[in-house]
Amino acid sequence: MLSVQNVTKYFGGLAAVKDVSFEVEKGSIVGLIGPNGSGKTTLFNLISGVYPLSSGKVFFDGEEISGMKSYDIADKGLVRTFQVVKPFDNISALDNVIVGAFQRYKNRNRAQEKALEVMDMLEISRFREIPPKHLPLAMKKRLEIARILSTEPKMILLDEVMGGLNPQETEQLVQTIHKIHESGMTILIIEHKMKCIMELSHHVVILNNGMLIADGKPEAVVQNPEVIKAYLGDDYNVSSY
Ligand SMILES: Nc1ncnc2c1ncn2[C@@H]1O[C@H](COP(=O)(O)OP(=O)(O)OP(=O)(O)O)[C@@H](O)[C@H]1O
Ligand SMILES: [Mg+2]
Repeated sequence: MLSVQNVTKYFGGLAAVKDVSFEVEKGSIVGLIGPNGSGKTTLFNLISGVYPLSSGKVFFDGEEISGMKSYDIADKGLVRTFQVVKPFDNISALDNVIVGAFQRYKNRNRAQEKALEVMDMLEISRFREIPPKHLPLAMKKRLEIARILSTEPKMILLDEVMGGLNPQETEQLVQTIHKIHESGMTILIIEHKMKCIMELSHHVVILNNGMLIADGKPEAVVQNPEVIKAYLGDDYNVSSY
């Protein structure tokens, strides 16, 4: 579904992403992990067309998308959330989701129908009339996901959607992501909470200093000495959020 090929991004002299290649199979959940500043969000910005690539190529669903605009990539069915949530704060939660649905439906009633269907799935329908600035973080994160799902994507990129959530909210969101996956979605997810990554991912990709240092099954990757040294640490314990 997604093929990242030798992707590199320079910011001035700094290579934030260096020659990264990996694949995401249709219908799978792939975890993207690595220390702070290792280039994970930059990679999302490159895949989703927010930044131009310095070099390399990205293919989505059989078609080259590198060089395309974000809205054209979204139109093809690839959308992302932002690590720092970016709702439209002064309109209702429902209207925020309708903005996403307008990507597919120009008719307001049909767009609203889609938005409400997605808000039901994310269990946030009860907040429909409330502007996002009055919602707790866990609900803002869900709203962010609802907004991208309302575009009817084939694949979603989730950037630390569990960040800042307590263990109970985190566990509930893991269950919701399972539900989204079961509806047929392909998912690439950045997350620091390893328990979530282990519970969700079929495959894990690890970045360090902008470079891919490991790529494989979660159980294998957490035993990789380079991954332990760069990211997990010797006292790594998968059972804690
Ligand atoms: N727009 C930008 N201009 C200059 N440097 C940038 C820009 N965006 C990111 N960087 C730099 O690129 C590197 C990778 O940052 P990035 O945000 O991709 O890391 P990350 O893996 O998402 O980290 P975190 O886990 O903290 O979110 C960092 O050194 C960062 O300072
Ligand atoms: Mg980041």
